[in-house]
Amino acid sequence: MHTAIINSDKTQHFTELEERYNAHNYESLPVVLTKGKGVHVWDVDGKKYYDFLSAYSAVNQGHCHPKIIETLIEQSQKLTLSSRAFYNDALGEYAEFITKYFGYDKVLPMNTGVEAVETAIKLCRKWAYEVKGIAENKARIIVCANNFHGRTTGIISFSTDPSAKKNYGPFATGFEIIPFNDLNALAKTLTDKNVAGFLVEPIQGEAGVIVPDDGYIAKAKQYCADANVLFIADEIQTGLCRTGKMLCCDHENVRPDILILGKALSGGTLPVSAVLADDEIMLTIKPGEHGSTYGGNPLASKVAITALKVLQEENMAENSEALGNIFRQELQKIKSSHITEIRGKGLFNAIEIKHTDKDAAWKLCLELKENGLLAKPTHSDKIRFAPPLIITKEQLMECMGIIEKSLKVLD
Ligand SMILES: Cc1ncc(COP(=O)(O)O)c(C=O)c1O
Repeated sequence: MHTAIINSDKTQHFTELEERYNAHNYESLPVVLTKGKGVHVWDVDGKKYYDFLSAYSAVNQGHCHPKIIETLIEQSQKLTLSSRAFYNDALGEYAEFITKYFGYDKVLPMNTGVEAVETAIKLCRKWAYEVKGIAENKARIIVCANNFHGRTTGIISFSTDPSAKKNYGPFATGFEIIPFNDLNALAKTLTDKNVAGFLVEPIQGEAGVIVPDDGYIAKAKQYCADANVLFIADEIQTGLCRTGKMLCCDHENVRPDILILGKALSGGTLPVSAVLADDEIMLTIKPGEHGSTYGGNPLASKVAITALKVLQEENMAENSEALGNIFRQELQKIKSSHITEIRGKGLFNAIEIKHTDKDAAWKLCLELKENGLLAKPTHSDKIRFAPPLIITKEQLMECMGIIEKSLKVLD
């Protein structure tokens, strides 16, 4: 636990309230936010910050995007939830829109990211038994070391992060962990006829924005296709323009067999996630076998349409790609001896900090906060930089100045 620098009575009040009454399942930076607009957020004392986390890439479109908020207000006054016991007049429109947008036969709507990953695993297994012909309970899914796919008991069963697993067992079986970015390891596991799917993040986000070698995703997809194994892309964090293309898999012209989306699908307004696949896979799940009370609700459906529309209307993929390149170039120029690595794609970037002080990354984030930029360490020595994709070049250059100035705290 880091000691927090509390710098106002208001900040102290709200942080203490959370500490006192809320579960201690996060370690938050000591800043209390009350307002967001575009690339900026404001704290309770009125101080303005650049948001370089974007709620873990859920607000790619910027905070409180006016068109998304307009849709949210409009639909919330009409119908918010019907449950899937009945049809509603928004889900069908959304399903048509999102399947055409990404080029799949069907969508299965869920809420949080982890639910969508669970859904993809169930779909993959169902397909394995009913289409591929694997014997019951024998299907295996290949995953990568240092993955992050969420926090349910099913998903942490194949996490390699000890803190995600300790004392949460027993765990689900049927998963095999191979190193990320290792095609030989993948090829080896694919010789087993009981392998049903390969679940992968095209860039590992929580692990610290680990970018695989060029060609890895395309070859992995090809190997899976050759072995009649489903290639399942978790694009919950990398998708929706974050890495400079609509999907990170688009960098290598890969079409996943199962595509998982979340986070920015609602532009940061509601938990909205989706699993996309073709009929051969999707129609293996029959009525009553899977679902969620809120999944596909009319409010989420309408909001997701607008959230997807504005990504295209405002050329967010192109902006992400162009400004991501500038960001990494400018960061290289700073030449801090404390930065050992700069990596990323589009506006999905991270730096690695080397310092004798093991809390250096945390301290740097506190200093960045003091100077008006919010970012958060991941795995103690890495800092992710992922601003909303509507950031302008001018704003980005101002942020480079803040980062350069803040790095001095580590000298
Ligand atoms: C790649 C990836 N998958 C799944 C999840 C889980 O999403 P959620 O927190 O909405 O359950 C995350 C969240 O950070 C993620 O980055």
